[in-house]
Amino acid sequence: MLSEVLLVSAPGKVILHGEHAVVHGKVALAVSLNLRTFLRLQPHSNGKVDLSLPNIGIKRAWDVARLQSLDTSFLEQGDVTTPTSEQVEKLKEVAGLPDDCAVTERLAVLAFLYLYLSICRKQRALPSLDIVVWSELPPGAGLGSSAAYSVCLAAALLTVCEEIPNPLKDGDCVNRWTKEDLELINKWAFQGERMIHGNPSGVDNAVSTWGGALRYHQGKISSLKRSPALQILLTNTKVPRNTRALVAGVRNRLLKFPEIVAPLLTSIDAISLECERVLGEMGEAPAPEQYLVLELIDMNQHHLNALGVGHASLDQLCQVTRARGLHSKLTGAGGGGCGITLLKPGLEQPEVEATKQALTSCGFDCLETSIGAPGVSIHSATSLDSRVQQALDGL
Ligand code: PMV
Repeated sequence: MLSEVLLVSAPGKVILHGEHAVVHGKVALAVSLNLRTFLRLQPHSNGKVDLSLPNIGIKRAWDVARLQSLDTSFLEQGDVTTPTSEQVEKLKEVAGLPDDCAVTERLAVLAFLYLYLSICRKQRALPSLDIVVWSELPPGAGLGSSAAYSVCLAAALLTVCEEIPNPLKDGDCVNRWTKEDLELINKWAFQGERMIHGNPSGVDNAVSTWGGALRYHQGKISSLKRSPALQILLTNTKVPRNTRALVAGVRNRLLKFPEIVAPLLTSIDAISLECERVLGEMGEAPAPEQYLVLELIDMNQHHLNALGVGHASLDQLCQVTRARGLHSKLTGAGGGGCGITLLKPGLEQPEVEATKQALTSCGFDCLETSIGAPGVSIHSATSLDSRVQQALDGL
């Protein structure tokens, strides 16, 4: 087992095009978001496993000896099975959480214990570890924060247990794992996501692992060859939404008006395919006419409104940005939640700031960030980049 401190980070995601249509067999394009979750793992020798999640105020500790003596043989049956409800009950016993524990805490702890016990059980003795996970991603906003959490945990635990090598070389500030190692990280992260979400599609953990842009079509996930880093504004309307109800609403509309709604889904599919083609042709410095195609964003937003997943807050977001010549759409389930606005190259910073200000004064949270960020990465604990240092200082 490794004895050094590990610092790992993984990105969140947004859906660029294809939300809702993907549920009906069309293509969706998901891209990584340069808002990351960070994890610091310190092996220690006090016989405890400590987990702290400062963003949601969680601090828990377990005795390694107690975890070791518990019957966790149910984890021995292979590594890619969905945890059954009996297994989840056993894990709850191991976790020792109070009955009134909040759902977010319960799920975060269960996913952690599941990954810790499953990945580390091959060690002669379970390791004593101190783990802190913090995030730039707001939770529950459809930005893949739980997937980034599971990806960070899987990467750090697999590395500390030497199931995959630490890719950091002397002098590196940051590095990434090989394709094979990333596949293993992704596989375990998917198990963590299953603990949290039951039956997720696997897109969120795939984007967080691989980074860049992914195409999702009828259960098949593949990476786009090219995915330039594009600047965006990410706006959280803070209007709560219910993904399940929104998905059901689209289904009902499709059943009621098939001749009208099916062509909308086909058109969204064509938008995703066109966007995929243009992203594939974009160089590091995209040409202005390539941005014109990304203006299909407006068209998709209108389609999503016609599907019934818009919201007054999202209309307001689109109006504010349109008044400044910018293009926005909802991302994810809609009905509130988050929207993205594409920032064209050459846009002056004061104009970006004025747009952010206008959106903030609508009561929204607005951040300038980019899409197409690298996937799960490991950072040097000795030559920290300023972003990691800043995050650590804030702990
Ligand atoms: O808001 P999110 O990231 O959970 O996205 C939901 C995307 C939908 O297409 C609406 C549903 C789905 O399962 O794909």
